[in-house]
Amino acid sequence: MRILFVGDIFGRPGRTIVHDRLGELQKEHGVELTIANGENAAGGFGITPQIAEELFELGIDVITTGNHIWDKREIIEYMNSANGNEASLARKLLRPANYPAGSPGFGWYQGRTRSGVDYAVINLQGRVFMTSNDDPFRVADELLKKITAKVVVVDMHAEATSEKLSLGWYLEGRVTAVLGTHTHVPTADEQVLRGGTAVQTDVGMTGPYEGVIGVQRDLILQRFLTNMPLRFEPATGDVRLCATLIECNVATGRAIAVQRIMLRQQ
Ligand code: FE2
Repeated sequence: MRILFVGDIFGRPGRTIVHDRLGELQKEHGVELTIANGENAAGGFGITPQIAEELFELGIDVITTGNHIWDKREIIEYMNSANGNEASLARKLLRPANYPAGSPGFGWYQGRTRSGVDYAVINLQGRVFMTSNDDPFRVADELLKKITAKVVVVDMHAEATSEKLSLGWYLEGRVTAVLGTHTHVPTADEQVLRGGTAVQTDVGMTGPYEGVIGVQRDLILQRFLTNMPLRFEPATGDVRLCATLIECNVATGRAIAVQRIMLRQQ
């Protein structure tokens, strides 16, 4: 089975290239499960219910997020509206599982693909250079006791390459893939660990590269030069779709191959 993970979708440029190119990518590679990180989908900061539904409509099965999940406050009500119902679209929008107990929403999802393969997605957030949250390693252990699917994909939303790669080794042989998000720079370190776990420390951003990790470069430069607060706006040029394709054995959940993908807006 082939799984496509689309890296952080940034603002309207990111959503537009997903709209324009995702379908052909899924078709070309025979993708059965599509996961995307959407925490920057609304103008670079957070995600709205409308945008989440737009992304589901475009063929994304599960949306993961990270530190920007609560930027648009209306997303709380949306996530609560699922009421734990696994058939509800709102239940397929995740926040990191290692957030404080009682946080709105869920940090994992277990479902079934169109051809009947059980799968699970776990969303975690790192602790190095980020706000404090629970230990992602131990939270993954706990979730894996509950999850019955063999095919399990982990989005590790974190700053540090070391922390993301460490989680990959920690979960080696227990999950299909550990893919990093958040830093918006695709890393050329994709590999399948011996135990059958695909790892890449950052899938890269799906959005405008003619800026600084998605934001208009002049604004970021001003921030560095003056240290004054500024309102960040998404950049627009050189839009690319970054994703990672994983091939796995559905009986064992083991990854067989991993491939980086970068498409430019035509
Ligand atoms: Fe982030």
